[in-house]
Amino acid sequence: MYKIIEREQLTETIFKMVVSAKRIAKSCKPGQFIIAKIDEKGERIPLTICDYDREAGTITIVFMAIGASTYRMSSLMAGDSFRDFTGPLGQPSEFVTDPIDEVKKRKYLFVAGGVGTAPVLPQIKWLKENGIEADVIIGAKTKELVILEDEFKKYSGNLYITTDDGSYGRSGMVTDTIKYLIEEEKKNYDVCVAIGPMIMMKFVCLLTKNYDLPTIVSLNPIMVDGTGMCGACRVTVGGEVKFACVDGPEFDGHKVDFDQAMQRQTLYKSEEGRAYLKAKEGDTHHGGCGNCN
Ligand code: NAD
Ligand code: FES
Repeated sequence: MYKIIEREQLTETIFKMVVSAKRIAKSCKPGQFIIAKIDEKGERIPLTICDYDREAGTITIVFMAIGASTYRMSSLMAGDSFRDFTGPLGQPSEFVTDPIDEVKKRKYLFVAGGVGTAPVLPQIKWLKENGIEADVIIGAKTKELVILEDEFKKYSGNLYITTDDGSYGRSGMVTDTIKYLIEEEKKNYDVCVAIGPMIMMKFVCLLTKNYDLPTIVSLNPIMVDGTGMCGACRVTVGGEVKFACVDGPEFDGHKVDFDQAMQRQTLYKSEEGRAYLKAKEGDTHHGGCGNCN
């Protein structure tokens, strides 16, 4: 059992929990995810790690209550426990394994959208601990939906907050601020990391392609069971079939076929859609556990 040490409601539908998970806290790296399961019958919920404390042995997760399972999860309180809390899973962010001298030479721009702001935090924290201050754009629909602002102030270089309705910070979508920074402020970035809803990551990539700005995206939103077996997170990257939960979650955004991934995401929600994908994609519709036959 994995005890919830702290629970905080960040917005009407977004919740933050600090969970005791010593083994994961000891070895996890930015970019990786965990799978939470409330009880034996509960669904597996893959969530990118939002923070970790190696000494206290805790992992912080942030999630939006949007379905039956995440809604149930939001009703758990400090003192309650998860039945399973598995991880760390997936590949760490590229800069963690790249030579640090190379990473230090790069100018990073992070683009964090909505609840996808949370997984950006361990990345900029890791960079700051290694002497690198990244510029960050946080985008949210309204002022009430901006999360983790104080934490970001601590770890980012320049922080730009933008709201779709202009109720806080700059007005407009994250792409407007990217354009402003590059075209008007004449900022030169070497790498952009965009984490948020699929539609945001698609439009960030369309824009950064025009600037020849390499862009990494995190495809956590298309994961379902996080095991490489359900097939939900199958995605074409540079013409090759990949699975976000095994090969990712982070990929070169300029090579991701977003339209196909978003169409599959919609189809995967119904039984009929899943049967269609299975018929269309054959054995490659899932991650190839080898047990189907
Ligand atoms: P949202 O819809 O409020 O969007 C956040 C920001 O993204 C907006 O404020 C806007 O600036 C930008 N954006 C949205 N559409 C855009 C477009 N067409 N062009 C340019 N910019 C655009 O976000 P939300 O409701 O908090 O998002 C929830 C989604 O985030 C869920 O789908 C969830 O799966 C996903 N998510 C992603 C990750 C990840 O690792 N990528 C992690 C957690 C959650
Ligand atoms: Fe099921 Fe990746 S989430 S195969």
